Amino acid sequence: MVIVTGGTGYIGSHTVVELINAGKSVVILDDLSNSRIEVIDAIEEITGTRPLFHRVDLADAEALKNVFDKIGEKAEAVVHFAAKKAVGESVEKPLLYYRNNLFGLVNLLEEMQRFSIEKLVFSSSCTVYGQPSVIPVTEETPRQKAESPYGNTKSIAEDIISDCCKVSPLKAISLRYFNPIGAHASAKIGELPVGTPTNLVPYVTQTAAGVRQELTVHGDDYPTEDGTCIRDYIHVVDLAKAHLKALERLDKEVSVGGNHEFFNVGTGKGSSVMEVIETFKAATGVNIPYKIGERRPGDVTEIYADTSFAEKELCWKAELNLKDALGSSWNWEKNYRNIKA
Ligand SMILES: NC(=O)c1ccc[n+]([C@@H]2O[C@H](COP(=O)([O-])OP(=O)(O)OC[C@H]3O[C@@H](n4cnc5c(N)ncnc54)[C@H](O)[C@@H]3O)[C@@H](O)[C@H]2O)c1
Repeated sequence: MVIVTGGTGYIGSHTVVELINAGKSVVILDDLSNSRIEVIDAIEEITGTRPLFHRVDLADAEALKNVFDKIGEKAEAVVHFAAKKAVGESVEKPLLYYRNNLFGLVNLLEEMQRFSIEKLVFSSSCTVYGQPSVIPVTEETPRQKAESPYGNTKSIAEDIISDCCKVSPLKAISLRYFNPIGAHASAKIGELPVGTPTNLVPYVTQTAAGVRQELTVHGDDYPTEDGTCIRDYIHVVDLAKAHLKALERLDKEVSVGGNHEFFNVGTGKGSSVMEVIETFKAATGVNIPYKIGERRPGDVTEIYADTSFAEKELCWKAELNLKDALGSSWNWEKNYRNIKA
């Protein structure tokens, strides 16, 4: 059995679907602070199997212990998604982020140790690279001082896991996600940000749906071809599959990077904000009204992944492209909002 923390969330739910489709039994731990219980129904509709679910806050050590008393014996591995992820909010409320993301991780590692669960896949982020001087970034690219408390929780979490791997049988893989977008082909699960989206693609789809009047492009004077920022947009279904590969690798006990390995999970291709707007139109036929606004503090100019290490060692490569991802995001948005066209 695989424990998936944060499994009703955006990336977690897509990963649960892939795990169930691969024949794994799954138990989800989530406090529903940023997701809805209906996601469990959607997972069941997609896969025909209802994953087990416990509502628990990982930062609450006692509550987590009680849940592990029920499930710990049967678990063979943990995929750990549960975290708060809003960069701006983390600047406003650093302690909330350190408590939630780091206490949660420490409590989880303690419970894993108590039940001798030795395999962990962790959700890290390309934010650990900051604005790298050489692009594309490899896993050897040095990490930089985090721009936000959120980013810092990812760097510290990687270090906490590394320290545990040095002194215990724990084997871990940290996947450094680039920019996850898109939704499951069924359009039954997808990204559902709370409040005003801070990520580009949910803003684009909500603008297309008429929920937002227009998109603001944050800066068109960056030193890139069209002046807008460049990111590596990875389809969430491809990303979900990378977790399966990571679990397989932990099962096989192969490692070239010690007991804690790191993999970039992106497409290897950078796309600008303007490219996203144009590709959305090509994929869906919907034009996105936009205006040019100020740059956002903390936004890096350009980043995309070198994925050769993941291709060689994880046997994983992105199969879906930007157009596929944007089309699926729009289908999800339309399904969620009951838009027929
Ligand atoms: N989406 C991105 O752009 C992105 C990029 C890089 C890394 N990540 C990381 O991937 C992971 C998943 O991200 P997501 O986009 O699916 O986010 P999400 O908010 O949709 O999912 C996270 C889930 O964790 C739950 N959760 C949060 N704190 C919890 C706690 N203390 N106890 C129990 N459950 C808790 C939330 O309710 C939610 O269901 C996070 O760790 C995030 O930092 C996300």
